[in-house]
Amino acid sequence: MRVLVVGSGAREHALCVALSSDPAVTALACAPGNAGTARIAQAAAVDAADPAAVAALATSWAADLVVVGPEVPLVAGAADAVRDAGIGCFGPSAQAAQLESSKSFAKHVMSTAGVPTAGYWAVGGAAELETALDEAGPPYVVKDDGLAAGKGVVVTTDRDAAVAHGHRVLDAGGAVLVEEFLDGPEVSLFAVTDGTTVLPLLPAQDAKRRDDGDAGPNTGGMGAYAPLPWAPAGLVEEARATVLQPTVDEMARRGEPFSGLLYAGLALTSRGLRVVEFNARFGDPETQVVLPLLETPLAGLLQAAATGTLAGHPPLRWLDGAAVTVVVAAPGYPERPRTGDPVTGADGEGVLHAGTTVDAEGTVRSAGGRVLAVTAVGADLAAARQSAYERVAAVRLAGAHWRTDIALAAVEGRITV
Ligand code: AMP
Ligand code: GLY
Repeated sequence: MRVLVVGSGAREHALCVALSSDPAVTALACAPGNAGTARIAQAAAVDAADPAAVAALATSWAADLVVVGPEVPLVAGAADAVRDAGIGCFGPSAQAAQLESSKSFAKHVMSTAGVPTAGYWAVGGAAELETALDEAGPPYVVKDDGLAAGKGVVVTTDRDAAVAHGHRVLDAGGAVLVEEFLDGPEVSLFAVTDGTTVLPLLPAQDAKRRDDGDAGPNTGGMGAYAPLPWAPAGLVEEARATVLQPTVDEMARRGEPFSGLLYAGLALTSRGLRVVEFNARFGDPETQVVLPLLETPLAGLLQAAATGTLAGHPPLRWLDGAAVTVVVAAPGYPERPRTGDPVTGADGEGVLHAGTTVDAEGTVRSAGGRVLAVTAVGADLAAARQSAYERVAAVRLAGAHWRTDIALAAVEGRITV
């Protein structure tokens, strides 16, 4: 099987690592890729946001399966274009990807399907914003309705800051959602689906805030770990039965079947499980900890989802142990990351590349806000965490920032549901 991965982050590097260890994969390419993926997958230039260009590359490279990593190409219709070219694709149609690209669309689907989520106010203008905030009360949750790379949400007890964020989104021409605040720990649960059958993966948790102790602004994710030692027994089955399957069924009923990776961001609140958000693709950086624990060959699994044959797929097998990933970010991330700095010590085992490129002299340089995702697997969470941080210590990037507390609360038993 010739597999083409689309994207250029550490998620795509993790996908390439897992795919390259599947004996069914005879050739692997990653487009546009980064300095890390180029070591294990053929590199090809492509504008990932241009569906026609993605389909043309898949055709000229004679791909059997295309795996689309990021949301932007999916929302633009990359999976539709690839399928129209007669090539199998792991990833939802543009229509179905609205589960991620429009929070109000996702809310409609959830309300029809009876899926538990936060109450919300759809805000069309400045006057409604303040009314909605006062009805919701603090802590205020103010969201950009559209795609914002994990940076469109402000959660704050400061009413002025909540108003200011709402105005920023409205002034930029966006729509705003004010939401009921959800307490309790968050879980990222991925499910592979062919539009009918749903196979959940291991639950993971990511660290969204930039700084230790969950301080600082929201980011795309500063680290992750899996599995979750504190998760209640039966969590995955409950989420499958009350969230994942009803959502997939409702999408099929609407004639917009969702196939690919359905990512449910869940909050385990004092009043039960609630959906915080859906994403239409593998999470980044959660993928970097979920895939190293998956024993089942990945290409066959994604191919089964792409071809509508998941019902006949054997149950997933998982390694014992745990995985931790720590994101090494550029100075200035997330607001104004500095790029172009040399990166060394980034070729060891488990060092997944996110925003990197190789210059004409062969030097690896930072090329994005999140530069590396340094990952390790261990017998338990404490061991995986220790190895991951040992690997981080070997990285050299001027002004680099990383959190020192990824998975720490879980190791210390401080997370309770
Ligand atoms: P989202 O982009 O919707 O995933 O939101 C990003 C992050 O903001 C989430 O992972 C949560 O940490 C936080 N967040 C979003 N919605 C809520 C909510 N209703 N209550 C509390 N925190 C939230
Ligand atoms: N880690 C959050 C996301 O992938 O959206």
